[in-house]
Amino acid sequence: MSRSLAVPLVIDRSAAAPLGSQVAGQIRDALVGGVLPVGARLPSTRALAGDLGVSRSVTEQAFDQLAAEGWLETRRGSGTFVAAGATTPLRHRPSPTPRPETGLLRLDTGTPWIDPRHRAAWRRAWRDVSAATPPPAYDDPAGVRALRIELAAHLARTRGLVCEPDEILVTSGTIGGLGQVLAALPPGPVGHEDPGYRAAAEAIRASGRDLRDLPATEPITDLTGAVGVYVTPAHQHPLGPVMPGSARLSLLAAAHAAGAVVIEDDYDSEFRYDVAPVPALAALDRDRVAYLGTTSKTVAPSMRLGWLVAPPGLHRAILERREVTHDVPPWPVQRAFVSLLRDGYVDQVVRSARRTYAARAQRVTEAVRPLATPILPVAGMYATIPLPQARARRVRASAREAGFEIPMLQDYCRTAQLSGVIIGFGGCTDAELDRALAAVVRGLG
Ligand SMILES: Cc1ncc(COP(=O)(O)O)c(C=O)c1O
Repeated sequence: MSRSLAVPLVIDRSAAAPLGSQVAGQIRDALVGGVLPVGARLPSTRALAGDLGVSRSVTEQAFDQLAAEGWLETRRGSGTFVAAGATTPLRHRPSPTPRPETGLLRLDTGTPWIDPRHRAAWRRAWRDVSAATPPPAYDDPAGVRALRIELAAHLARTRGLVCEPDEILVTSGTIGGLGQVLAALPPGPVGHEDPGYRAAAEAIRASGRDLRDLPATEPITDLTGAVGVYVTPAHQHPLGPVMPGSARLSLLAAAHAAGAVVIEDDYDSEFRYDVAPVPALAALDRDRVAYLGTTSKTVAPSMRLGWLVAPPGLHRAILERREVTHDVPPWPVQRAFVSLLRDGYVDQVVRSARRTYAARAQRVTEAVRPLATPILPVAGMYATIPLPQARARRVRASAREAGFEIPMLQDYCRTAQLSGVIIGFGGCTDAELDRALAAVVRGLG
């Protein structure tokens, strides 16, 4: 039976090295790199010679050499295999950035709770994708048009943001969209809330721009010299409050005066329990605000799908770049999200999660009372509890003892001097949350 090698080999007839050495060298590299695992079967010397267009003596010579070095072994009647002892220290190289295995359940701010009862609609969406034919060429650089039509209706209905499908760009989530906005802005610093979303701060830094810290607890009134400012008006991350109407107006005025673009991260506005969500900031000024939405809080962060509604000039610049780079989310994911929106899946999971989060937000508030008070009203899927540093550390230690990792408010601060703990309640069960809260209360007491 002919079997081809899982490693592409390239023969260079103009090179000084003999053909046998070239073949042996490339197979050896694959063995050292761990590409060919111990026990893997190699093609016959005849089949390999045929694939490479060389004489059989070349491949025989290469296999003999590698067998002599201990890399390969020949089993009579069954073929040539990677030898059992063919391991090198290199093959067991640890990953360059090993992730510490803490064994703790992370109660982070980013993991949503997705009601498994709506799985049928999820499966339908993917069946739908599997029955469709992908576009044979690069698809629309703005994103799948059917999705943009659904999104335009969704944004008008849920966020008071009225726009045409052609004003929407489908993105790889908030950070993907932010990266594209940053790439299209003129050189210059970008403002960022402090404390604020660390991934956004990282994206701004990675774009080579200076990050200008803007205290998250105060209205933004001056953006002189900045070309943009990233904000979370619906639910300041990680403190929680909605940006009041007066602060929205002062931010827009400051951005206008500086000629800066406001980058609105509308990451979890679906989840307010006390009142209806406030309309998007972009609804107030479409010419000044670039609006970023995401599926990360409603469907799953692993979808890596979002959308951007940018002012016309910025939209054009990003679209032109995407025409060249094809930096558009994968077609199957976009197509599945069309079905998820049409089928009502997104509305269903949002409704279920809203009920669950409302109950959990109350559970957190009641559990820590009277020892501490979260910043109220709690929205989204986390509660932020301001505490002096030492007390916050005691709470974290107590949570760790019980098997939970909770984020510290100070880790979201750059120049701000705030401390406390943040309890994410999306990525756990009710029972786990109760155990974590009992540990938090022990740490507070
Ligand atoms: C403030 C904020 N914005 C956006 C996101 C989602 O980002 P992405 O859409 O890139 O997953 C998160 C997720 O945790 C977040 O906390």
